[in-house]
Amino acid sequence: MLKDLLMKNRSYRGYDESFRLTREMLADMIDCVRYAPFSQNFQAFKYYLAWTKEDCGKLQPCTHWARDLPELTLPHPSHCPTGFIVLCYDTRIGPGVQRFWKDVGICAHTILLRAAEMGLGGCMIGNFRPDEVSAAIGLDPVYQPLLVIALGKPDEKIVITDLEEGGDHRYYRDENDVHYVPKRKTEDLILNE
Ligand SMILES: Cc1cc2nc3c(=O)[nH]c(=O)nc-3n(C[C@H](O)[C@H](O)[C@H](O)COP(=O)(O)O)c2cc1C
Repeated sequence: MLKDLLMKNRSYRGYDESFRLTREMLADMIDCVRYAPFSQNFQAFKYYLAWTKEDCGKLQPCTHWARDLPELTLPHPSHCPTGFIVLCYDTRIGPGVQRFWKDVGICAHTILLRAAEMGLGGCMIGNFRPDEVSAAIGLDPVYQPLLVIALGKPDEKIVITDLEEGGDHRYYRDENDVHYVPKRKTEDLILNE
């Protein structure tokens, strides 16, 4: 089952906007991330939840999507996420953000796996300006945005393909807007016999 969830848990860049995420759904994801491991158990992250049209409308323009598909503007019109979680470092906790960069991925992936289990999906957005995000949602300066996680009901097809050694790792789309993600093969990932 975990493997099924991992395969389903793609980076979605198109959503069904008629399906609105609720605060309860997002809070449920945070209720899972509280069990995640954390460097020295500091648990230095706090999460801003956005589910209203107004808040999502403020965050959407701060996010930048699919750098490897510059010819496209994603999400397509009327296919935007209906929720966001802004993962923030609480600067009052621990020795500084440097200690916690590894924890970001663990927490984000936990949130996204729970979303996948709920029949939802998302996309980590690292391409944003923290000052823009903070201003958009009026964040207290003690919280430093480290990652934005877009969420919603996925509304696009994503296919995983095998990536041969030396092949092109970049994701691409076909004329039907099907999104392909090349993944290295298991045997190419293991270093020893
Ligand atoms: C830390 C991190 C930051 C990312 N930032 C962005 C981003 O800013 N915009 C975007 O469209 N995708 C972003 N992605 C999604 C990646 O492009 C995606 O994971 C990759 O293409 C592989 O696709 P998959 O997640 O479906 O396996 C990010 C992924 C990670 C792990």
